[in-house]
Amino acid sequence: MTVKRRRFGTTPHEISEIGFGCGGYWGYSFFSEAAAERLVLTAIDEGVNYFDTGPNYSGGNAEVRLGRILKGRMDGVFLATKVGSKLSDRGKLVRDFSPAAMRSSLEESLRRLGTDHIHLVQLHSPPVEVVESEEVAAALRSLKEDGLVSYVGLSGSGAKAEAAIRTGTFDSLMTTYNIFRHGASAPIMRDAAAAGMAVMAMSPLAHALYSPSLYRIRSMSQIWYLLRAFRNSPKGLMRARRYRFLNEVEGWTATAIALKFVLENEHVNVAIIGTTKLDHLKANLAVSGGPALPEDVARRLRGE
Ligand SMILES: NC(=O)c1ccc[n+]([C@@H]2O[C@H](COP(=O)([O-])OP(=O)(O)OC[C@H]3O[C@@H](n4cnc5c(N)ncnc54)[C@H](OP(=O)(O)O)[C@@H]3O)[C@@H](O)[C@H]2O)c1
Repeated sequence: MTVKRRRFGTTPHEISEIGFGCGGYWGYSFFSEAAAERLVLTAIDEGVNYFDTGPNYSGGNAEVRLGRILKGRMDGVFLATKVGSKLSDRGKLVRDFSPAAMRSSLEESLRRLGTDHIHLVQLHSPPVEVVESEEVAAALRSLKEDGLVSYVGLSGSGAKAEAAIRTGTFDSLMTTYNIFRHGASAPIMRDAAAAGMAVMAMSPLAHALYSPSLYRIRSMSQIWYLLRAFRNSPKGLMRARRYRFLNEVEGWTATAIALKFVLENEHVNVAIIGTTKLDHLKANLAVSGGPALPEDVARRLRGE
């Protein structure tokens, strides 16, 4: 099985339409290094070439882990990280989009990843005034001119994303797009694509909140994800009850439907998924080459 590729915006890069999200449980040191490596190597074997990470992901361990696993294997890999959110020495989240902080954060990320250049750096969900700031735009341009990155992007939704499209500063937009949240994001993604930006869907599975596997505890990671869902997404869990019908579509799993829904949006270049399980990874990648969504299911998800 080889995952399909799409063009990354107007760049020459062909990237896998499913990317590997290196945050969440996958990046923590308490998740086995061997299992984390197996997931990445399997993903690469199956054609995944897009990896998304960040300096504050998984207590700061995600970049270190990804860099170690990719050592000697960077060829053909498209790497994306973030600036503007890093961890202090005491592990506290520090938000700083000043030019000096962004540069030093990126330099530290490159060191952790074991490279002197990555493809993409993204502002990590900054306020709108940062997105619109000429000082920030100049700082991002200088990161490109100095050869640290090829492209700059924004990770953010709603007004932040709309502002990013207006500025013309950004080569890409990573925004929340999934079965729960599509109505507001779809026109923004369409406008971003029309402006020549690459578009990445984040949380494309909506954290699988509607899937029975969320409650079928067979690993520590599931306890962690369930607690995260109760803490961060109580409304999402309520909403998920309206999507139980996804578990009754013959020949499909609920997560496969959710992912196909995202991939069927022509403006999505890559859907970034986090997983700690090989069978989930393989099932997700199989959706890439699999059949189209049944039309009645697609219509119901679109609210028609
Ligand atoms: N602001 C930002 O920049 C931002 C925000 C959010 C996310 N992201 C990026 O997107 C990545 C993923 O985001 P996310 O973890 O929030 O959300 P997600 O990918 O929508 O969901 C991850 C959850 O889905 C489960 N899952 C994956 N495949 C499954 C399958 N086939 N069947 C059942 N469950 C499945 C995972 O559990 P298992 O481990 O059990 O598979 C995990 O609980 C992050 O790692 C990060 O790279 C970025």
